[in-house]
Amino acid sequence: MAAASAPARGAWLALGAVLLALAAVALVEGADYSDLRGDYCARSRGDRKCCRDRRDDCSVPILGTLCYCDEFCNRTRNEDCCPDYWAHCLGMEPPPQLVFGCRHEGRDLRVGQSFKINCNLCTCSVAGGAGPEVLCETAACMVEPEVIRGVNARHDAGAIGWRAANHSAFWGRRLDEGLSLRLGTLQPQRTVRRMRPIRRWENHGSRIPSHFDARRRWQGRITPVRDQGWCGASWALSTAAVASDRFAIMSVGEEHPALAPMHLLACNTRGQRGCGGGYLDRAWFFTRKYGLVDDDCYPYSAQQGHVGACRLPLHTTLQAAGCRAPQQRVGASPRSALFHTGPPYRLGSESDIQAEIMASGPVQATMKVYHDFFVYKGGVYQQTAQGAGERAGYHSVRILGWGEENTRAGPLKYWLVANSWGEQWGEQGLFRIRRGSNECEIEDFVLASWADTVMPPVEKMKHNGNAHSNVI
Ligand SMILES: *[C@@H]1O[C@H](CO)[C@@H](O)[C@H](O)[C@H]1NC(C)=O
Ligand SMILES: *[C@@H]1O[C@H](CO)[C@@H](O)[C@H](O)[C@H]1NC(C)=O
Repeated sequence: MAAASAPARGAWLALGAVLLALAAVALVEGADYSDLRGDYCARSRGDRKCCRDRRDDCSVPILGTLCYCDEFCNRTRNEDCCPDYWAHCLGMEPPPQLVFGCRHEGRDLRVGQSFKINCNLCTCSVAGGAGPEVLCETAACMVEPEVIRGVNARHDAGAIGWRAANHSAFWGRRLDEGLSLRLGTLQPQRTVRRMRPIRRWENHGSRIPSHFDARRRWQGRITPVRDQGWCGASWALSTAAVASDRFAIMSVGEEHPALAPMHLLACNTRGQRGCGGGYLDRAWFFTRKYGLVDDDCYPYSAQQGHVGACRLPLHTTLQAAGCRAPQQRVGASPRSALFHTGPPYRLGSESDIQAEIMASGPVQATMKVYHDFFVYKGGVYQQTAQGAGERAGYHSVRILGWGEENTRAGPLKYWLVANSWGEQWGEQGLFRIRRGSNECEIEDFVLASWADTVMPPVEKMKHNGNAHSNVI
């Protein structure tokens, strides 16, 4: 029940914020400030003198309330004095800090003036009865100080194994922007979800070490962490990165392309939504059928959410596409085909995922991202109740390895995972997340594929048959 009502509540919050924002705009437009500066004391009181002392009847209606034309008006609230009190009664300019408007944390604001508190716009508005006041939107923000405090309190109490911190690049953005522009993986459709996972080996438990890091095992061959920017393109980044890693690993360093997520983003448009998210099975299908060029040839340019039209034909060669010839060993026959992968296959258990990474390199995982994940700073992540009850979204990432950490609560098993939010986020762009308990559904839909290298290693032939019955 809680899960079902959560999105509805999020939607209402968002709707509330929109309505409030609209109301603020309407009010600001309706409350023309030059009107407010009009003749209140002058017009209503005519040639009668302004009042001395405090006189409740020495007032004039203004915007559904009253303003005063007596000399004590400025002792209560700024806006208690009519806007023309100084000019008409005292024959002087109003002191600038007493102009009819709002006061917020020591700052004076004119009616209509706005400022931001984190991701919410606040406006000095005239909201009926009580004179101008600061009205703020109430959207949830990506970085909420209360979420950071809540997570760190639980960490300090030994209840969880991770810490939170403000991530500057996310400050000032709404949670809904985070969910739509920092993730970008559409949930696999039912037919694909039903795809039965392959089993790599019957009995590999004893061969799996307690720690593994693909960056150590294959030094210099693992794709660095990238930043997708404000574009929901994790589907393209994770696919390109896993494919790149596997080219370098399976060709034993013979081919080491940095494959272009931009190629997928701009050209794999059928059934996909670009910066609005994509399906992983479709991304792998595209990579298998048409292949990808490298990053130099199709640089990533979607940081602000603009993709543009595909600038390559579906069927092409590296030469025809104008790409620089990839680096290869002297004497190897030069590659003209784009970089293709084999069919993707799904891995169904913790030990199968581990065996796959050890044998062939990093794999792609889909996970559910909750509010508190945006402020992850280090440690072994698990979802907390901080910021729960709001919406969540699906994201795809690259699992590089695993390990175990000793904590006060005993040993904690984790996956070592590369994210695509730049190197400033988390642990130099990586995160660790609980392993073996399907945390955030991360073990539900793990995919890998073979690289179609110029020099197929023996391993590749050995396992091809294994994968076929379970391909997408
Ligand atoms: C209100 O205005 C009068 C006249 O200018 C001034 O003498 C007095 O100090 C002001 N009072 C306050 C509280 O600002
Ligand atoms: C978070 O970082 C931003 C940008 O550096 C900063 O403006 C903001 O005040 C910080 N917020 C908190 C709660 O530390």
